[in-house]
Amino acid sequence: MTELLEPRAIGRDTVRRDGEAKVRGTATYAIETPVQHPAYVHPVQATVPLGRITGIDTSAAEAIEGVVAVLTHENAERLASTDDREFAVLQSDEVAFRGQVVAVVVAETSELARQGADAVEVTYAEQPHDSALRVDHPDLYKPEKINPSFETDTAEGDVAAAMATAHVTVEETYSTAMYHNNPLEMHATTALWDPSAEVPLTLWDSTQGVHPDRAAVCEVFGLEQEQVRVICPFVGGGFGSKGTPHAHVFLATMAARAVPGRPVKLGLTRQQMFSLVGYRTPTIQRMQLAADRTGRLQAIAIDVVEQTSRIKEFAEQTGVPTRMMYASPNRRTTHRLAALDVPVPSWMRAPGECPGMFGPEVAMDELAERLGIDPVELRIRNEPERDPETGKPWSSRNLVQCLREGAERFGWADRPPAGHREGAWLVGTGVASSVYPTMRQATSTARIRYEDGRYVAEIGAADLGTGAWTVLPQIAADALDVDEGDVEVRIGDTRYPIASVAGGSSGTNTWGSALTVAAREFRTKFGRSPADGDEVSGDVDQASKDDAHAAYAFGAQFVEVRVNVDTGELRVPRLYGVFGAGRIINPRTARSQLLGGMTMGLSMALHENSVWDTRLGQVANHDLAEYHVTVNADVGDMQAHWLDEHDPYVNVMGSKGIGEIGITGTAAAVVNAVHRATGIRIRDLPVTLDKVLTALP
Ligand code: MOS
Repeated sequence: MTELLEPRAIGRDTVRRDGEAKVRGTATYAIETPVQHPAYVHPVQATVPLGRITGIDTSAAEAIEGVVAVLTHENAERLASTDDREFAVLQSDEVAFRGQVVAVVVAETSELARQGADAVEVTYAEQPHDSALRVDHPDLYKPEKINPSFETDTAEGDVAAAMATAHVTVEETYSTAMYHNNPLEMHATTALWDPSAEVPLTLWDSTQGVHPDRAAVCEVFGLEQEQVRVICPFVGGGFGSKGTPHAHVFLATMAARAVPGRPVKLGLTRQQMFSLVGYRTPTIQRMQLAADRTGRLQAIAIDVVEQTSRIKEFAEQTGVPTRMMYASPNRRTTHRLAALDVPVPSWMRAPGECPGMFGPEVAMDELAERLGIDPVELRIRNEPERDPETGKPWSSRNLVQCLREGAERFGWADRPPAGHREGAWLVGTGVASSVYPTMRQATSTARIRYEDGRYVAEIGAADLGTGAWTVLPQIAADALDVDEGDVEVRIGDTRYPIASVAGGSSGTNTWGSALTVAAREFRTKFGRSPADGDEVSGDVDQASKDDAHAAYAFGAQFVEVRVNVDTGELRVPRLYGVFGAGRIINPRTARSQLLGGMTMGLSMALHENSVWDTRLGQVANHDLAEYHVTVNADVGDMQAHWLDEHDPYVNVMGSKGIGEIGITGTAAAVVNAVHRATGIRIRDLPVTLDKVLTALP
């Protein structure tokens, strides 16, 4: 148990510290870093889905005035490590997926670089490829672990026996689509290799973690940490796609090393992002639920099939939330992967929990319907006293309170009957639960220095637009027991002490803990009247840690949909979420995170779908004209609320992390509402009008 910080600055509706710079346009993003006389880099992408390069003619590109260099696998430097085949750019003649980079052109302007890239002639020996995920794919295999290091399969009791004898069962297959992260700021790296400088390599990279970014670059190029500096003050969204570096970071570095002393800029196009910066694997989820007549679960099982790339394994942990969400004596989760000739999948907001709260939460709705029990009540009846997976008590679990408060705010008790019609519109309401684990990373250090009457806190943290610039000073202020205005926080640079990735909703928990350790150490050492230059560091591993409890944030989402009886058109007049996510550090940035997650969940329900062309081996709708994301006009009244939750086990702030929970469960709530309105159960996302149209009256 931890004594939580006395919340003074914490909890305040402080405006974003970086807001003005962003609104005025003075905040510099990676691609617009002001550097002297930059050259521009444009990738050439493979036009076959699998095969070998048989010839690569760069003469026409090199003949263009203003083209500085053309790098291919034939002349590019040999990398120190090629273990990670996504990172090992331009090292061989092999093509593992369509869109893989086979050359880069460096030129005086971005236009010339692009023109040069178009002029590179590549010939291939194409091989037959396989990029179609199927539930019965002959090469399905069991990965050794699922991300980040969970057991692949778990089992307890006998699911089959319970299914055979239970009062009611649900056995259905659900699927989620392939999704691509589309942050507003496209991935970009500005790189400078200056061998005569003390720190020869500088990268201004759009990343969720400058230190992890640096570590990867050092490994691949065989450099020491001291030889590389990564700078990233602002990020225009990442959602996981900037949580680990991708090929372009290594290409930019390689290009910089080819033109020593001259900075280079590599900005991916929106279309290139559909093959080069990861995506969420499509998932196929076979669910089994069995319940007695009171609705108590007798069995819960999920068998997941998903894909990875042949060159790098990424095993989305889709079955993980089913392990802990509801009480049941018989349980099973499994994961099987097909390694296909496709781009490398990667992190996307709430990896695991986001797809993994779709099938199960729709199945719970189907079970409620078959039992004739209200879906809110069914969830409450299956509330586990302890974590069913580990047997640990919960640090705090307020799912029931979220369901009750959400139902109250939404007017759930008075919801219209199934198939309710108002004019040309069928009206339905749906509910689903949300969950996300509360994590803290093992590595992060904060340094606090007293300087000109202020406290300067330095840590290599990242603000993806989430609010780290704003909430970290709030935490430091309370830990130091000073006014927020007396604290300056500096982040986004490897010159500052090492910080963990902004991922897994763990940033604030991790960096805030390190800041608190440093602040306490500072007071112990220097008292309340420090001298200029007094300085200490604090590590997150010195912060109190509780392994005795299972720590998760929970939530409940309620949605109203209207389906047009003539056109199948879908409208979402209301989407409400209530969350139990520990102490909220800043209601302004928190609301934005929760609403952002819910919006992305709605987007998954209704719009997002990377349409995979199995003949070509590529995303057909690879731009924002055709890859639809939910916007303001797609939803009416959206509300995010939270409980006043006090959790003394998670960390000294009492915070649980809020970046990802909002996207979990949303799509299930929408599907459940569509069913209530129309009687049609859609089990494969997204809910497009063609799926409801044929079954409408
Ligand atoms: Mo998030 S997908 O953990 O960066």
